[in-house]
Amino acid sequence: MLISTVNQWLLKPWVKPLLWLICALPVLALFVGALQDTLGANPAEAIIQETGEWTLRWLWLTLAISPLRDVASLPALLRYRRALGVTTFVYGLMHFLSYAWLDKGLVIDDIVRDVLKRNFILVGVLALGLMTPLALTSFNRAIKAMGGKRWQALHKLVYAVALLGLLHFYWKKSAKNDLNEVMVYAAILAVLLGWRVMRKGGVMGMLRVR
Ligand code: HEM
Repeated sequence: MLISTVNQWLLKPWVKPLLWLICALPVLALFVGALQDTLGANPAEAIIQETGEWTLRWLWLTLAISPLRDVASLPALLRYRRALGVTTFVYGLMHFLSYAWLDKGLVIDDIVRDVLKRNFILVGVLALGLMTPLALTSFNRAIKAMGGKRWQALHKLVYAVALLGLLHFYWKKSAKNDLNEVMVYAAILAVLLGWRVMRKGGVMGMLRVR
């Protein structure tokens, strides 16, 4: 009874606009914080860190849709996976742009040198690079043009993006010996990927396109 009510509620036309509004809230809060000068002693660092953490949070939420849909019997949840995936990419892009602008003053040479010098930055660039084709093919026309199987195969890259994002976060925090939060993200990802591995009968099953 409750499940079917939630499913019906999830089909209401106003849910998607509400979700987009919720997705915009963290960046709006940062914007207001920057205008009111309430982001702390180092606003640039706060913006880079917050957009980075939100990229990870949206990605984890995107990956949570399929397990939640099955475990809670909420098929209508699937309608919102694409919006969460696109939000992840937009936050990743904002994270990169805030780093490139606020930390590196948009000097391309400095950015390239940093990418080559710091493994943690290189891994972030790789994660965002792999996310880009996923975002560019997230529209119905692209899915149709590619065909379902090729589209599905490409979108398996999301697992690599998640692992690289986590490694990027781990490297950043391990330098400061501050791993508590990283462990929480790692544990959640283990559940999200572990569920897929179990359901598909192994890692190869999870990666296979059906
Ligand atoms: C071009 C790609 C990227 C670059 C250049 C980049 C750069 C950075 C930098 C410089 C920081 C450290 C900020 C500080 O000084 O404290 C950082 C932190 C972080 N980044 Fe990235 N990043 C990239 C992509 C990503 C992606 C794709 C994700 C998530 C999937 C991500 C998640 C994070 C997280 C969670 C943090 C730590 C925030 C915290 O300290 O609380 N980054 N990134």
